[in-house]
Amino acid sequence: MADLTSDFLGIKSPNPFWLASAPPTDKEYNVRRAFEAGWGGVVWKTLGAEGPPVVNVNGPRYGAIYGADRRLLGLNNIELITDRPLETNLEEMARVKADYPDRALIASIMVPCDEASWKAILPRVAETNADGIELNFGCPHGMSERGMGAAVGQVPEYIEMVTRWCKQYYDRPVIVKLTPNITDVRYPARAAKNGGADAVSLINTISSITSVNLDSFSPEPSIDGKGSHGGYCGPAVKPIAMNMVAEIARDAETHGLPISGIGGITTWRDAAEFMALGAGNVQVCTAAMTYGFRIVQEMISGLSQWMDEKGYTSIDDFVGMAVPNVTDWQYLNLNYVAKAKIDQDACIKCGRCYAACEDTSHQAIWMKEGRVFEVNDAECVACNLCVEVCPVEGCISMEPMEIGQTDPRTGRVVVEEYANWTSHPNNPMSRAAE
Ligand SMILES: Cc1cc2nc3c(=O)[nH]c(=O)nc-3n(C[C@H](O)[C@H](O)[C@H](O)COP(=O)(O)O)c2cc1C
Repeated sequence: MADLTSDFLGIKSPNPFWLASAPPTDKEYNVRRAFEAGWGGVVWKTLGAEGPPVVNVNGPRYGAIYGADRRLLGLNNIELITDRPLETNLEEMARVKADYPDRALIASIMVPCDEASWKAILPRVAETNADGIELNFGCPHGMSERGMGAAVGQVPEYIEMVTRWCKQYYDRPVIVKLTPNITDVRYPARAAKNGGADAVSLINTISSITSVNLDSFSPEPSIDGKGSHGGYCGPAVKPIAMNMVAEIARDAETHGLPISGIGGITTWRDAAEFMALGAGNVQVCTAAMTYGFRIVQEMISGLSQWMDEKGYTSIDDFVGMAVPNVTDWQYLNLNYVAKAKIDQDACIKCGRCYAACEDTSHQAIWMKEGRVFEVNDAECVACNLCVEVCPVEGCISMEPMEIGQTDPRTGRVVVEEYANWTSHPNNPMSRAAE
C-alpha cells in the first residue's frame, strides 16, 4: 500500500496536499474543517504587519473564465491579504497547531520591505509553533502598489535581502513564494536560494483582466463602475505554473532547491505531474474554493491507487522523475517521425480535423466520398492539431513510424538515434556547432 506521508523540509504531513494561502485558510474555523477533511497541511492566509487595517472591497472580488459546460477554468481575484487582526490570527494558529500536531501549518507573511518590520513579526509567528513561514512576494494587486508582494518578488535583490533577514530572525524553514509576473522565474528563484531560502513555492496569481462589461465598459469584477487588474489562478494557469516549476528544477543554479508546486491543481493527476516535474509537495486553492474541502479525498485515493499500480511505495519514488525529460528545443530528436491516424470506427464525421488541417495546417487530411476522413502521410507533419480539435477522445492518434520505414513526406529513412542525438550529424544544432 502506497505511503503518502510527506516530509518537506523536515515538515511532516500525512499527505503532500496542502491548502495554499487564501480564503480557505483564512481562519481557525476553516483550517480545522480542512484538517478534518484530510488536508495534510495549510499555509495560513497571509498575515500583515500591525498598523492601519487592511480593507477589502465591498463589491465582487472575483471574476471567472468558464468552459462550455460552465466548469470554472480560471478565477481572477482582487482580494488583499488577511483583513483580520494579526493577534487574532496568531492565537488561532497556535490553537490549531496544538490540536493538529501531525499536520503542517505554515504562516504566510507580507510586511513592508524593511528589516524592522520583519524582525518585529517573526518572533511572534515563532510563538505560534507554526512549522515554517512562507514569504508572500507574489500578490499582484493592492499590496504591490504599497511596495509589498509582487513589488518585492519582481526584484531579485529584494528577495535575497528579505530572505536573509528571515533566516537571521527565524529558525524554522523559510519558503519563498514566487510571483509569475516576471520574465524569467529562474532569477527570483536563484535570489531566494542565495538569500538562504529552504524552498520556493510557486506560482502566486497572474496579473489579469478576465472580462470587460460592454455596456458599462468596466473591467469585471466591477466596483462601482471601475475595475482593477486581479490575480488569475485555477486550471487555466497550470501549464504556466508547471513550466516555471520545471525551469527551476532543471536550472543548475537552483538544482536541488525544494519546490512546493502551486497553480491549477484540481486532481491527483495534476499533483502527480507537478511532483514529477520536481515539486516535493503541492498547494491547492481554486479547486478547494470550487468544490469544497472534501476534494482532497479524491486526490488522496487517486494518488495512492496510481502509486500502487506503478509500484511506488513513497512519494520520493517519483518526485522529479520528469525533470531529465524536460530539455531545450535543440535537443529534441528530429529523427523521430510520427503520422496521424484516424480510427474510422470512432470517427463521428464532424470534419473538424479536416477543416483545421486544410485551412490552417498542412493539407494532410483527405475528405473522401461519404465524409470519410483519411490522413495523407506524404503531407502529414504530425503537428497534432487534428488530435487537439477532434471532439472524440482517442479517435485520432499520432503513430510513430517504424525504424527503417521511409517517410513519404521527406524521403528520409526513419532511424533510431535517441542515445546520441545531441551530437548526431542529422541534428541541425550539432551541425551548426561544427
Ligand atoms: C481569493 C484568493 C486570495 C488569495 N490570497 C492569497 C494570499 O493572501 N497570499 C498568497 O500567498 N496567495 C494568495 N492567493 C494565491 C493562492 O495561494 C495560489 O497561489 C493561487 O491561487 C494559485 O493556486 P490555484 O490555481 O490552486 O488557485 C490567493 C488566491 C485567491 C484565489
